[in-house]
Amino acid sequence: MKKAIGIMMMLILIFSLAACGQNSVNNDNKPDSESEKNQQESDIKADKYGKTLVVYFSWSGNTEEMASYIAQQTNGDLYKIEPKTPYPDDYSECGDVAKVERDENVRPEIANLPDNINEYDTIFIGYPIWWHTAPMIVGTFLESYDLSGVEIYPFTQSDSMDTEHFDNSMEFVRESAKNANVHDGLFTKASDTDDILEYLNK
Ligand SMILES: Cc1cc2nc3c(=O)[nH]c(=O)nc-3n(C[C@H](O)[C@H](O)[C@H](O)COP(=O)(O)O)c2cc1C
Repeated sequence: MKKAIGIMMMLILIFSLAACGQNSVNNDNKPDSESEKNQQESDIKADKYGKTLVVYFSWSGNTEEMASYIAQQTNGDLYKIEPKTPYPDDYSECGDVAKVERDENVRPEIANLPDNINEYDTIFIGYPIWWHTAPMIVGTFLESYDLSGVEIYPFTQSDSMDTEHFDNSMEFVRESAKNANVHDGLFTKASDTDDILEYLNK
């Protein structure tokens, strides 16, 4: 009798452990397995955004990293905004130039403005936060075109990840891309590919 009860207890324990394993809860939209992540990646590639351009400005490479990942996920064309007058390599000198540009609402010239923007249904535009908002050269790009009917998705990151800076930059993008449909942007660290993927899936 004792032996039969022992076996029953063992079986109950085994079944309840198996049930726990199956019930792993995933409360956010993040993929909880490699195959789910692969599925999300191929869903995005399945022409979700139409013909896509991923434009970005990056001084030290972080936005560039994000832009490359987004272009890869969306099958988008990648385009880097190059200023006609390059920014200084020195951080504090670059800061000085950028501060004057922001304070005086300058539109720095772009060396390589593309002339085929109207081919695109969707434009992702990426930039670092500079002086609590977007770099002014992002305004130069957006104001160079009639973006009527274009879907715009801004993405950015910064050292402090201060959401007020992000909000300021969104306001700047909305003002600069007047006739476009500017969607809520993505503010996350360049290395957080789960977050980027989640944004692209929404
Ligand atoms: C001119 C300049 C101004 C910056 N202003 C801010 C700022 O206001 N807030 C912040 O958190 N980070 C600021 N940063 C830091 C950048 O946002 C951060 O280093 C970012 O990762 C750089 O992106 P990138 O590598 O694509 O250039 C500034 C950097 C520079 C060069």
